[in-house]
Amino acid sequence: MRKTLRYSVATVAILAAGATSALADEGATLMTNGETFITETAAPSHMENVDTIYSGWVFRIDETQHMQQDDFDNPSFVFIDKALDTWSKVDGSEGKSCADCHADVADFKGLKTTLPRIEDGEVVTLTDLVNECRTDRMGAEAWKYSGGPMSAMTALIAHQSRGMPMNVKIDGDAAPFWERGKEIYYTRVGQLDMACANCHEDNYDTMIRADHLSQGQINGFPTYRLKNSKINTVHGRFKGCMKNIRATPYKEGSDEFEALELYVASRSTGLTVETPAVRN
Ligand code: HEC
Ligand code: HEC
Repeated sequence: MRKTLRYSVATVAILAAGATSALADEGATLMTNGETFITETAAPSHMENVDTIYSGWVFRIDETQHMQQDDFDNPSFVFIDKALDTWSKVDGSEGKSCADCHADVADFKGLKTTLPRIEDGEVVTLTDLVNECRTDRMGAEAWKYSGGPMSAMTALIAHQSRGMPMNVKIDGDAAPFWERGKEIYYTRVGQLDMACANCHEDNYDTMIRADHLSQGQINGFPTYRLKNSKINTVHGRFKGCMKNIRATPYKEGSDEFEALELYVASRSTGLTVETPAVRN
């Protein structure tokens, strides 16, 4: 399964020398509340250069892994509880709360596994769906993409799919967007002249500074990060990675990041939703 490494000068500079490690937690099994998760599985056939896909959980140190395994230790639930309060709070000119129209948030079970999806020739993310209800159905203001209320609400909704395998549609009307996302994934950008693939496909399971590099999967999103002690969104993470390679990031919610999200979600096919995951 050893991949051909296509190092650029910058890649060599940024990757710690000779630090290829065996997956730290080989054999570890992710279980939460008695549920077992799929953290390692055969890559979907559209992934040409990778045989096996791994959840980001596999690459985290024991302490971080354990935090995710126990809902009482997982700091995400403070935010998820806040979202539950918001769920039944009236907002906007129509005098409605989410709960007025959606009887139970559990009805969104399975939704995260199919997102992003295409509607009327556009990519639709969970964030888009929530904001559509706020603006068109509640007469309320759209929430900011990575703001507290949106991060928490999308985590609450995605959490309803925990334990279910990711399975986004990539053919038919999704195909052109998926191709666009793939192109972005493999295009080198920024001062370091690197693509997502240079780190998350060519060099996963190596150390990059103090970080054990994963495949950059999004089955755990929105995800709690120890680094900033809050729930982090998919596009927030994409933005951070682009900044790290000194590229000008696309905007959160942009067409580019939505296409990229569709493509990256397709690379997670078969891994189970872990939301809310805990990462460093
Ligand atoms: C006035 C009624 C109304 C309110 C209030 C409302 N929604 Fe909706 N929502 C709908 C309708 C109608 C749909 C589209 C049909 C469906 O999928 O249920 C929808 C769809 C959705 C979907 C996509 C479901 C899917 O399977 O595609 C999500 C997610 C969602 N709403 C979340 C929320 C959240 C979160 C709130 C509160 C911030 C909210 N909604 C407030 C009526 C409402
Ligand atoms: C210079 C190497 C590098 C590049 C290039 C890079 N990333 Fe990352 N990325 C990291 C590191 C380091 C982390 C944190 C450790 C980990 O989870 O891999 C990370 C984390 C992530 C995560 C979180 C994974 C999880 O399990 O929570 C996602 C998603 C991600 N990257 C996507 C991307 C995308 C999409 C691109 C291209 C726009 C990209 N990355 C480019 C280094 C990189």
